[in-house]
Amino acid sequence: MNTITVEALLELAETARTQDTRDTYLWALPWAKVGAYYNFLYLLAEKINPGFIVELGVHHGTGTAHLAAGAPNATVVGIDLDLEDLKLEFRDNIKLWKGDSLAYARKLQGRKYMNDLWGERREVRIDLLFIDTEHTTAQCLAEYRAYLPLMAPGGIILFDDLFMGGMSGVWPAIAEPKVILPDLHAHLGFGAAIIG
Ligand SMILES: C[S@@+](CC[C@H](N)C(=O)[O-])C[C@H]1O[C@@H](n2cnc3c(N)ncnc32)[C@H](O)[C@@H]1O
Repeated sequence: MNTITVEALLELAETARTQDTRDTYLWALPWAKVGAYYNFLYLLAEKINPGFIVELGVHHGTGTAHLAAGAPNATVVGIDLDLEDLKLEFRDNIKLWKGDSLAYARKLQGRKYMNDLWGERREVRIDLLFIDTEHTTAQCLAEYRAYLPLMAPGGIILFDDLFMGGMSGVWPAIAEPKVILPDLHAHLGFGAAIIG
């Protein structure tokens, strides 16, 4: 994967707000026009060329589809308690896992290698993690702490809905270099941390 700086993340967010170059099938997905953050997911995945992406909270699959389209060579694992509302354009590089976000972290923890995703022995290192489930401080920080040891050096963790009521304890608790990416998700707040 290619590493990225805070400054480059801000530049990419500006591009995402001003230039929409996504495939038309992507911006036709449910909610895709609501936030420039979907365009940002696509552009970021394209730029850092990740091998392994995990999205916590899939819902319609709009985010999953953008990540998978931006990084066609990556494996994108989307995790949700409930996959009934799925409306995504399916791609070969998407794997869905129905269950709790913390349970999936436990499945990966303590395993240096896994081969059930790739059919070969590969190290467990997440290059890009998107946290977007319950929108409470307790859940979001539990997810952040559970997945942090599974991240690749230079990996990125994205946080949606940071300014939602109940999420106020999240941002101050993130110790890594971090940046709020303004106006990507209206007033709801969208941030990124770079893992050392
Ligand atoms: C805001 S939606 C996700 C939207 C998606 N990331 C996107 O941008 O297109 C939140 C989803 O998180 C799921 N969710 C809530 N708590 C969860 C948990 N503990 N584990 C897994 N999924 C959870 C919900 O079922 C819901 O579908």
